[in-house]
Amino acid sequence: MSEHVVVRDDAGVRTIRINRPDKKNALTLAMYAAMTEALQEANKQAAIRCVIFAGAPDVFCAGNDIADFLKAAQGGGLDPRANDFIHSLARNEKPLVAAINGPAVGVGTTMLLHCDYVVAGPAATLSTPFIRLGLIPEAASTLLAPLRMGHARAFSLLIMGRPLSAAEAKEAGIVNTVVDDPAAVDSVAFKAAQEIAALPPRTLAVTRKLMRGHTDEVLKQMDAESAHFRELLQSDEARAAFQAFFARNK
Ligand code: COA
Repeated sequence: MSEHVVVRDDAGVRTIRINRPDKKNALTLAMYAAMTEALQEANKQAAIRCVIFAGAPDVFCAGNDIADFLKAAQGGGLDPRANDFIHSLARNEKPLVAAINGPAVGVGTTMLLHCDYVVAGPAATLSTPFIRLGLIPEAASTLLAPLRMGHARAFSLLIMGRPLSAAEAKEAGIVNTVVDDPAAVDSVAFKAAQEIAALPPRTLAVTRKLMRGHTDEVLKQMDAESAHFRELLQSDEARAAFQAFFARNK
């Protein structure tokens, strides 16, 4: 477990809260592992009927910790924990809700493509600056984003790195509802999760599985992305982009 991921169960709903506010909820390897464990455990527990991903009031998640990318680029190689997490998203059996306020960057956005119900505050922004970092988008987003929002919008997001506002993300079919009051995002998400948790679990599970019928294809796409990602991570371009991020305020 990680001190930066807080897991809480309440009335059939598991909340996995990303809690590293001083680093804008950037995900470390330990955080990925904690989230994977929390998801896998939820699958095993019949009493948990729905899972929420939540963040901080001003940020959902700033993506992968760039210091870890830099370490990997400097010869450490890519640790499997991030990959295990995105695989566990694709394989996850319980409905997934997300409650997002502020920026959702990189995997903070691509993980939303695996969620079933996303509640956003008015200032939420979704962005995937992978290309600018010399990397490629992951978590099967190269498959799921064009399917979800069409090639044109997926191109702006994934390739050009243009952020989506909360309203645009709703229009694009990633966000279900935009809540006017940012302080209400968590409670609206919890209400939705309770509504989902109250549904007959077997019919829900079967219907959800049929709706998401292409898990093998999603896993295959993740692996294909991952092979390129691994290679690109070693490039001078990527290394320079990671170093530039940490040098930006100096
Ligand atoms: N990895 C490591 N550290 C990160 C981080 C990341 N992905 N995102 C933010 N941080 C750290 C910053 O280095 C800074 O640390 P410091 O206080 O020790 O200098 C702290 O979090 C605050 O970040 P800052 O950029 O000052 O906050 P902001 O409110 O101005 O901007 C973001 C917030 C999320 C827009 C901005 O931090 C950002 O763009 N982060 C990088 C996102 C990214 O490219 N992720 C990888 C995607 S593949």
